[in-house]
Amino acid sequence: MQVLLIIFVVLILIIALLYVLVPAWYGLPPISTHPDRIRKALELANLQPNETLYDLGCGHGQVLVIAAKDFGANAVGIEVGPVQCFISWVNCLRSGIRSKVKIEAGNFFKSDLSQADVVFAYLTSEFGERLNKKLRNELKAGTRVVTVAFELPNWQAIIFDRENLIWVYEK
Ligand SMILES: C[S@@+](CC[C@H](N)C(=O)[O-])C[C@H]1O[C@@H](n2cnc3c(N)ncnc32)[C@H](O)[C@@H]1O
Repeated sequence: MQVLLIIFVVLILIIALLYVLVPAWYGLPPISTHPDRIRKALELANLQPNETLYDLGCGHGQVLVIAAKDFGANAVGIEVGPVQCFISWVNCLRSGIRSKVKIEAGNFFKSDLSQADVVFAYLTSEFGERLNKKLRNELKAGTRVVTVAFELPNWQAIIFDRENLIWVYEK
């Protein structure tokens, strides 16, 4: 019985460490965008039913759930944290939108973003620098990029919501 308890505690510790350390290794804390801010960002990006939204680093999958449930969009989440991927998957399943959502476990710098109609990113300005070239090269014309809390350098925003710190760009 004691051995089982020790195994359980060790497992919980490993999961907690993975939850914090994997995002930290990639340079971010595992913090989610507030649902109201997500809705605002997707409204400003004019996300339409059946369009495809990509969330770069989908965390707990809240953006995917709101995009699919409230906007009728298809959503792809790319996430490097295994625990975050699992939480996203569970949240999408619980919300009944699993068929409209795809979760890719991996590094979004290595993913193909060419099918996106809207790209959502809640990252930092350091990521903006690194994403700049990839977005320019890969996105099709007309794709909207909506960033929360950071700007894309050398892109001209078509919308800036000062109150919520949301920028919308169009390729
Ligand atoms: C600040 S959280 C945002 C979560 C979610 N997009 C939201 O707005 O609620 C950023 C997420 O990006 C993930 N991440 C960081 N770098 C990544 C990378 N290169 N590829 C995939 N995911 C990454 C982290 O693990 C973390 O879960």
